[in-house]
Amino acid sequence: MATYTFPRGFQWGTATSAHQVEGNNVASDFWLYEHLPGSMFAEPSGDACDQWHRYGEDIALLAQLGFGVYRFSVEWARVEPEEGHVSRAALDHYRRVCGTCREHGVEPCVTFHHFSSPRWFAADGGWEDDRAADRFARYCARVTAHLGDLVGRGCTINEPDVPIMLSRLGIFPARGLKDMAFLEEGARRLGTRPDRIGSYFVADPLRTRDVMLAAHLKARDAIKTGPGHFPVGLTLSLSDDQAVAGGEAARDAFRRDVYAPFLEAARADDFVGVQTYSRTRWGADGVLPPEEGVPVLIMGYEFWPEALEATIRHAHAVAGVPVLVTENGIGTDDDTQRVAYVRRALAGVARCLDDGVPVLGYYYWSLLDNFEWMLGYAPRFGLVAVDRDTQARTPKPSARLLGSIARANAIDLP
Ligand code: BGC
Repeated sequence: MATYTFPRGFQWGTATSAHQVEGNNVASDFWLYEHLPGSMFAEPSGDACDQWHRYGEDIALLAQLGFGVYRFSVEWARVEPEEGHVSRAALDHYRRVCGTCREHGVEPCVTFHHFSSPRWFAADGGWEDDRAADRFARYCARVTAHLGDLVGRGCTINEPDVPIMLSRLGIFPARGLKDMAFLEEGARRLGTRPDRIGSYFVADPLRTRDVMLAAHLKARDAIKTGPGHFPVGLTLSLSDDQAVAGGEAARDAFRRDVYAPFLEAARADDFVGVQTYSRTRWGADGVLPPEEGVPVLIMGYEFWPEALEATIRHAHAVAGVPVLVTENGIGTDDDTQRVAYVRRALAGVARCLDDGVPVLGYYYWSLLDNFEWMLGYAPRFGLVAVDRDTQARTPKPSARLLGSIARANAIDLP
């Protein structure tokens, strides 16, 4: 055993997103989809973790555990529930969230868009529409005007690469979820036509990629006008893409179409957010199944903590800016597996740092067991368990372990 000490100022945080924890995000497109007959969601988000009311308890808990950063998202559907109508009360709420972080010595890392959008936006072209970038930048400017002096870091869009990623991997059809039968009813409830809908997953993935890229650039400039002088970037879903036996061409084409446009844009950002969970093995004919002998998690991918080291190196090689691990974690009911995952992932971060790759920090996904989108509440990524009846929070051993690593800014490595 040797003790590895992280650089001074290395950030230790934990992350959530509004729709996954706040509850009752009723003006959002995702809420609508969750309630459609034949919906692709296993269950609706409902009260989620009721963080809308319990943020004070959650922030106190994460501070007490030892974390110095809380990454959360501001929900556009709450701030602008109808186009042009900005809720001062919602902005005040998020100002209190940031203020509570500051009172506990926790830096607020604010994500401006994490998958869900206002219903009006989805109904009126959403991420397929030319107006999206301006609409999003206008919202970002309003949020920054209200909270900017308290914010520590800004992430414009969470994982704008995922829609194109899922369609290229064949997990979603080529047009995303655009042709799903339940959209007929969704369009009726939104007062629009199915082909006008432009939600994160329910829009042409290639078009979404390009519009989100434009939206990131405009949002970054809008946020930079302040108040506040905090670093701004985007966060990307990155898999450790390994070429096996002739898979180089397929792997490289995937990287070119899915990650490269964003990693290249990030060259002008203050940092790039890396979010990694597993690896993808590429053969000559495309993606290979999990390797025999490697455990497969509830999410359907392999237990592969070393993926983080590989994606940090790839992101830095292309973007050339400092890397921040804005998400890394594991959905499992076995907390000892979580501990093993985090320890091995952090060993990879240490190797990157030793090689001179600038890694600014590590945020574990997620603080809480929360709403895992289409899979509902079954996958549990949290450091803290949430009782679905009482909303009681119970830290798991992994929370204590990672919190103590954070406090020490050091880890014992084999
Ligand atoms: C997303 C989170 C999600 C997590 C675990 C990331 O892709 O940003 O919202 O819960 O992965 O699947």
